[in-house]
Amino acid sequence: MLAISIITISLLHYLTPLHLHYLHDIFQRLYYLPIILAAIWFGLRGGLLCSLVVSIVYAPHILFQWGGDMTLELEKYLEIVLYNIVGGVTGLLSQRERERSAELQKTAEGLEQSYKKLQEQSEQLIAIEKNLRSAEKLSTLGEMAAVLAHEIRNPLGSIRGTAEILRDDYRPGDPKYEFIDIQIKETERLNRVVEDFLRMARPLPTDMVRCRVQAELETVALLVGNDARERNVSLILEPPAVDVVVRGNGEKLRQAFLNIVINSLQAMSGGGSLAISTTVCRAEEAADMCEIRFCDSGEGIDTESLTKIFEPFYTTKPDGTGLGLAITKKIVEGHGGMLQVESVVGRGTTVLVRLPLLQAGGDL
Ligand SMILES: Nc1ncnc2c1ncn2[C@@H]1O[C@H](COP(=O)(O)OP(=O)(O)OP(=O)(O)O)[C@@H](O)[C@H]1O
Ligand SMILES: [Mg+2]
Repeated sequence: MLAISIITISLLHYLTPLHLHYLHDIFQRLYYLPIILAAIWFGLRGGLLCSLVVSIVYAPHILFQWGGDMTLELEKYLEIVLYNIVGGVTGLLSQRERERSAELQKTAEGLEQSYKKLQEQSEQLIAIEKNLRSAEKLSTLGEMAAVLAHEIRNPLGSIRGTAEILRDDYRPGDPKYEFIDIQIKETERLNRVVEDFLRMARPLPTDMVRCRVQAELETVALLVGNDARERNVSLILEPPAVDVVVRGNGEKLRQAFLNIVINSLQAMSGGGSLAISTTVCRAEEAADMCEIRFCDSGEGIDTESLTKIFEPFYTTKPDGTGLGLAITKKIVEGHGGMLQVESVVGRGTTVLVRLPLLQAGGDL
């Protein structure tokens, strides 16, 4: 486009008769247009090159058509000098402007990167703090449980002891004997509750042994069998294709599975089904895992609540403690595994427990 405009202007110069002075004056100024444009678009070099080209194509016109008399055509020679000055100065200015905007762009990109990094770091910090707080809640809970258990168990022991002494004064069949017997049984029940609570809050024991996942699941199914029948829930424990063995603490694993199963039963007030299955996931790069799936047809959990269910004390039940899943997660992670919950409101919930595999199939 620049070349075309230079050629057009030059042609006008060469072809317009010399007596049309005023037209030549206009054409002479028109040359500034491509020079300034070249300077703006291509910087110092572009400006200078364009003014040089203009000078070269314009010079013969002065020399041969106008006569080349220095004194007469001084104004035209001066114009050539001006072309070059304008080309150079405009080019220099536009180049500087361009460099400055590139620098500004770089600074802006740098700033954006720093901002992104800062945001990532603050998100990480928030996540760490959240984890810390939840761990803190659990460990405080553990300490509280120990103190509480101590404070409750001692007087419970005295109540039970004195009740036994009192019971000795009556013969079986006597109504007072029965009352005291109820009293003793209730203190025993209370003791068990306290012990259970203490066991739940206690950190993971270090004695990890070979555990057959299916055997633990069978025990859990047996424990909740009655409850499931009462609630009209069909409990399906699918046999695995191969025997799955993990390294773990049977008691803790049972407790984790039990928490999950109880939650499912509680979510199916109008009956339903709970299917439990175990599969093996072999990975090329990571360790082999087993996946235990608890799939219920209960009420489900909405997306907002899904983010909170692992928090200690988060519960939607009037008599819930909100500790079940928090403790389950701690147990599963303590076994090097992970816990995941997927849910659709009105359809049901699937809880996935992944544990590192010790052995699958073969003799046990
Ligand atoms: N299978 C499920 N179906 C529907 N909601 C569930 C299910 N499992 C968990 N939830 C939701 O997650 C919440 C937290 O569960 P979590 O087991 O931690 O505590 P909880 O069951 O309320 O109390 P606790 O376990 O002490 O009885 C529950 O209150 C419930 O709203
Ligand atoms: Mg629960």
